[in-house]
Amino acid sequence: MIQSSKQVQSLPAYLFSIFHKKKVALEAQGIDVIDLGIGAPDLPTPPFVIDRLIEEVRKPVNHKYSPYGGCAEFKLAVVDFYLNHYGVELDAETEVLALIGSKEGIAHMIGAVLNPGDGVLTPDPGYPVYQSAIHLAHGVTVPFPLDEEKDYAPDFDDISIRDRERSRLMLLNYPNNPTGATVHLDTFIDAVDFARKNDLSLFHDSAYDLVTFGDYQSPSLLQVPGAKDVAVEFGSLSKSFNMSGWRIGYVVGNKELIKALSVVKSNVDTSQFVPIQKAAATALSSDLTTVQANNRTYQMRLDLLVRAYKEMNIEVSRPAGTFFLWAKVPEGFTSQGFAEKMLGEAGVIVTPGNAFGKMGEGYFRSSVSVPIERLHEAVLRMKKAMKGGNP
Ligand SMILES: Cc1ncc(COP(=O)(O)O)c(C=O)c1O
Repeated sequence: MIQSSKQVQSLPAYLFSIFHKKKVALEAQGIDVIDLGIGAPDLPTPPFVIDRLIEEVRKPVNHKYSPYGGCAEFKLAVVDFYLNHYGVELDAETEVLALIGSKEGIAHMIGAVLNPGDGVLTPDPGYPVYQSAIHLAHGVTVPFPLDEEKDYAPDFDDISIRDRERSRLMLLNYPNNPTGATVHLDTFIDAVDFARKNDLSLFHDSAYDLVTFGDYQSPSLLQVPGAKDVAVEFGSLSKSFNMSGWRIGYVVGNKELIKALSVVKSNVDTSQFVPIQKAAATALSSDLTTVQANNRTYQMRLDLLVRAYKEMNIEVSRPAGTFFLWAKVPEGFTSQGFAEKMLGEAGVIVTPGNAFGKMGEGYFRSSVSVPIERLHEAVLRMKKAMKGGNP
């Protein structure tokens, strides 16, 4: 009998796909479902990026395999972006690698550094892909809590000796999915210190690096002096340039970690299509005005949803980054119960907080990656469902 591996068979259930199935079933009954569970931008890729793709795709020279680590123009654009945006110097040859989206890079890099049974300190709540990648690499997820009372920053002192000793790697993600939490450089300084003292590698997932609001600018982990000794940072064009379907990202930082990942990748893929890399280079080298325009759109939508949730007596505060709103479920509900009520009675998908880990219980995540008219409609329906009472 044909069977998948034990690792694949025992992958934890993906709550998102359960909700997706319910959505499809409701839509088949003709119900209009508003999906606030989406983790990708609804806005289009900027036209200047598309123009560059079209220009490059017409050139036969670009139809061949890309160099393994990515094409020179893309890697140099990453180097310039880090220098101009963060004041961080990188060597394009040894400290930058192109990825087929940051998810691919994170999963493969976890596989490239773990030995079976190695622990990975992983934020709870956190992006569920971390756990799956650790599992597929025969590692062990060692959750550390992100607590609302501590502004969702890690409490390094609170991580037990046992957890430090059994772990080989620590993962961080700011601006944070799902909480929308942001950090200041101090947290990264402490993280690098913690990694050094406990002989850990440090991965920072900065997929939402440019999706920030007001005066807040997200720092790079590599701005911490000496960070490159222990750390890498993963970047993505998916969120900031609305390029989620293009599959393009990068990893920068520690040479040894990047070398380990390039060994894996040179055996499983041959990097991204060159015209996509060149279009992404154009995006990264731009003046970022399209990113700022996106952020203004998200900010308006977030404001609308925050106001509406407050009117519904739902505890919430406006995030300084990401397009997610992390809110407490009303009293008497579990995360799952609330999400099911909203889907069943309002036709609105929100993501139950427990999909992101134990610490997410009692919360739900709403994405504002839908047009404002749909958000208005979602709010009307949610308010009506809530008037219907408790679970
Ligand atoms: C925290 C986080 N990291 C990484 C990714 C993956 O992004 P990419 O499209 O670059 O693979 C996502 C996408 O939802 C995300 O939320």
